Amino acid sequence: MKVLYSAEQIGEAVERLAREIAADYSGKPLLLLGVLKGALYVTVDLARALSAIPDGPSEIVMDFVSVSSYGNATESSGEIRVLLDASVPVEGRNVLILDDVADGGLTLKALQALLRGRGPASLRTGVLFDKPARRAVDVTLDYVGLTLPNAFAVGYGLDYQEKYRTLPYLAEL
Ligand code: IMP
Ligand code: MG
Repeated sequence: MKVLYSAEQIGEAVERLAREIAADYSGKPLLLLGVLKGALYVTVDLARALSAIPDGPSEIVMDFVSVSSYGNATESSGEIRVLLDASVPVEGRNVLILDDVADGGLTLKALQALLRGRGPASLRTGVLFDKPARRAVDVTLDYVGLTLPNAFAVGYGLDYQEKYRTLPYLAEL
């Protein structure tokens, strides 16, 4: 497998994201909402990096959701099924959705709409990896770590049929 980003490069991107996010949420409480299972790695590593930055968020809470797209991914129905919902209420909180990779963008767009309906104080979205060439819908990404070519990637949370997720680097399958 061809390595697209080494563990070191991913670590630097997470640090860069953490500095950006720490500045934007300085002195404010922040709810990191990771999308299972892919975003487990970036959510935990980002939370750890954020916690080490002085003058960052006043409080960091981590939570997770698991969603699946309805039917065909090429359909732009934008509907998602919530398999596991957040355990912490979203209302009135500064919510930052975190996903491993933005591809077509449908999942994130639908998740944004769902959460916006719950009345968060603010709602932003961050992804570690972005495949802009694959975008099918217009979705706002406030934080992007690294850009990917139009290829199927595995590692650092990204899987192929549940395999390769635990690789510390990102590789092209
Ligand atoms: P979207 O709704 O098309 O943006 O789907 C995004 C989801 O597809 C991500 O959260 C991943 O679970 C999955 N995905 C997209 N590209 C890849 C990839 O290159 N490797 C592994 N999973 C991917
Ligand atoms: Mg995912």
